[in-house]
Amino acid sequence: MYSAGILGIGSYAPDKILTNADLERIVETSDEWISTRTGIKERRIVAQDQATSDLAVEAARKALAQAGVSGAEIDLIIVATISPDMLFPATACLVQDALEANNAAAFDLSAGCSGFVYALVTGAQFVASGLYEKVLIIGADALSRLTDWEDRRTCVLFGDGASAAVIGRVPEGYGLLASVLGADGSGGETLMLPAGGSRRPASLETVQAREHFIKMEGREVFKFAVRIMQEATLQVVEKAGLSLDEIDLFVPHQANVRIIEASLSRMGVPSERVFLNVDKYGNTSSASIGLALDEACQEGKVTDGANLALVGFGAGLTWGGAVLRWYAGGNRSDD
Ligand code: ACO
Repeated sequence: MYSAGILGIGSYAPDKILTNADLERIVETSDEWISTRTGIKERRIVAQDQATSDLAVEAARKALAQAGVSGAEIDLIIVATISPDMLFPATACLVQDALEANNAAAFDLSAGCSGFVYALVTGAQFVASGLYEKVLIIGADALSRLTDWEDRRTCVLFGDGASAAVIGRVPEGYGLLASVLGADGSGGETLMLPAGGSRRPASLETVQAREHFIKMEGREVFKFAVRIMQEATLQVVEKAGLSLDEIDLFVPHQANVRIIEASLSRMGVPSERVFLNVDKYGNTSSASIGLALDEACQEGKVTDGANLALVGFGAGLTWGGAVLRWYAGGNRSDD
């Protein structure tokens, strides 16, 4: 087995900013309610002509550039998304074409907001086994396209964005040290998009019933999230043979500051070791953890040899945790 780690990382969020004040003009809400309940101040929204694959390609180009790797060198592209451009072909195939990654296999993965960790762990297996040398993983979502802008319980939460990483071989002792992936399908109905698939194909009735929009039981998801963030963090850190004190930076899924505080802070993790950017982007779903990790790198918070714990939860219900020892060598260009 080879050690597999991140050789380059990148992220992208669309230019258009939607603030809490803007939302006050769309639904009955307030900056005060959104800020205190979620910690979100603003989020990014795709332009009229942008789809998930466009966000994915922007993030991927940055990750490839930082890794010093061309599209043609990529063996596999995995796109984690719950808002693909269309049901098929896979968004990963659209990305493969745009990047001229002609030697790459490509598939999508649906794990909600755990998507980035699911893709990271999946991609790393291909590198660790020696089957592939370079895998491009992407978490990308444009949930503003699936949001019911008449439902104040959900429309204030989500934002659009993408993050990407090139996974390849790293020196022994670096890279992915441990992972946990899990799912509890019995909770699937607490967070779903009911229509548009083979169970409830699109019809006048489904459109009139607003079934092509995200439906969520917020309190149920909140309770699950707090519990699973704690369990998955403890499990993955222990699996890596480390203690919580030895984790230099926690990069949790950026859904809600209260979920992060109720899980990590209660476990005694000091706030200066938890990276947060949910205030600027809202919940970007599959993109969230990679977007946070990329910003943490840009802010100089991730140095060579740092131990990182990435933990997320999402639709499915799913969860995923990964402990990485950061590798800052190789072809990496931090321009
Ligand atoms: N503005 C003003 N009031 C609101 C808003 C809003 N945007 N949304 C809800 N309210 C009201 C409700 O109607 C309710 O009023 P009522 O008591 O008169 O009925 C009141 O505020 C409290 O509502 P709750 O739903 O109990 O509020 P809560 O404190 O649970 O916060 C929230 C809601 C923020 C959604 C929280 O439950 C949460 O964060 N849940 C987890 C959501 C999440 O992380 N989802 C993403 C999962 S990841 C993925 O895969 C996409």
